[in-house]
Amino acid sequence: MSGITSSAATLPYPSAPGRAAQHPVISLSAVHKIYGEGEAEVRALDGVGLSIARGEFVAIIGASGSGKSTMMNIIGCLDAPTSGEYRLDGIATGELDEHQLAQIRNRKIGFVFQNFNLIPRTRAVDNVAMPLAYRGVSRRERHERAMAALDAVGLSERASHLPSQLSGGQQQRVAIARALVTEPVLLLADEPTGALDTHASHEVLDLFDSLHATGRSIVMITHELDVAARAERTVRMQDGLIIADSRTGGVA
Ligand SMILES: Nc1ncnc2c1ncn2[C@@H]1O[C@H](COP(=O)(O)OP(=O)(O)OP(=O)(O)O)[C@@H](O)[C@H]1O
Ligand SMILES: [Mg+2]
Repeated sequence: MSGITSSAATLPYPSAPGRAAQHPVISLSAVHKIYGEGEAEVRALDGVGLSIARGEFVAIIGASGSGKSTMMNIIGCLDAPTSGEYRLDGIATGELDEHQLAQIRNRKIGFVFQNFNLIPRTRAVDNVAMPLAYRGVSRRERHERAMAALDAVGLSERASHLPSQLSGGQQQRVAIARALVTEPVLLLADEPTGALDTHASHEVLDLFDSLHATGRSIVMITHELDVAARAERTVRMQDGLIIADSRTGGVA
């Protein structure tokens, strides 16, 4: 059970090592998310089924209000469905308490946000090391792993720079290094190129391509069709439902 610390004993692990690749990274079954009641009821998700295998690179697209963020929040274990089941890497999340959900988030998912969410006045390497601090990893190992993650995004020579001393594209690459430093099973990106110019967007998408090539699972929300076209699969949402799912890349 490599990578699982003693504190993980409270997490119900579904399977023995070696069987992990057999279940999807993400499995949503008949997921509903309903806000409000009566006349004010909003069916933000209205019966979503979605299965994403390990190593897939998937874009989620759809008009404003179609349910993308609602679905991302559920996939990210930041919110729970009103009904239906969500399994993350084989674990039935509905059976977990708040503490276990926080653990699974930290252990399984690397988040990338539109606005990078780096800690200001904190060196790139220390930003990247941050998620490891919650895991009782020694200072020296935190530094080593953060440097390795920065190297993987091509920024080891900027390790001592502050966020304000980096370009937007570089800041997003630091944020991606931070998302990867825990070696999560899934990279979850919400409009990762939304705040970037064309050149920086390509830098980030090239990085996603190379992560995908090394077997990383990536789920990315985007408004931009040319960005979605970089994924190998595009899931289109409308009114809380998945209305198209194209495996060829590009838009269905
Ligand atoms: N906390 C909430 N309370 C009530 N309604 C909500 C809440 N959050 C979202 N909704 C509604 O659920 C629907 C889906 O919202 P969601 O944020 O998932 O859309 P989205 O596809 O992410 O849109 P955007 O592209 O604008 O970010 C919308 O009609 C929205 O108004
Ligand atoms: Mg949204």
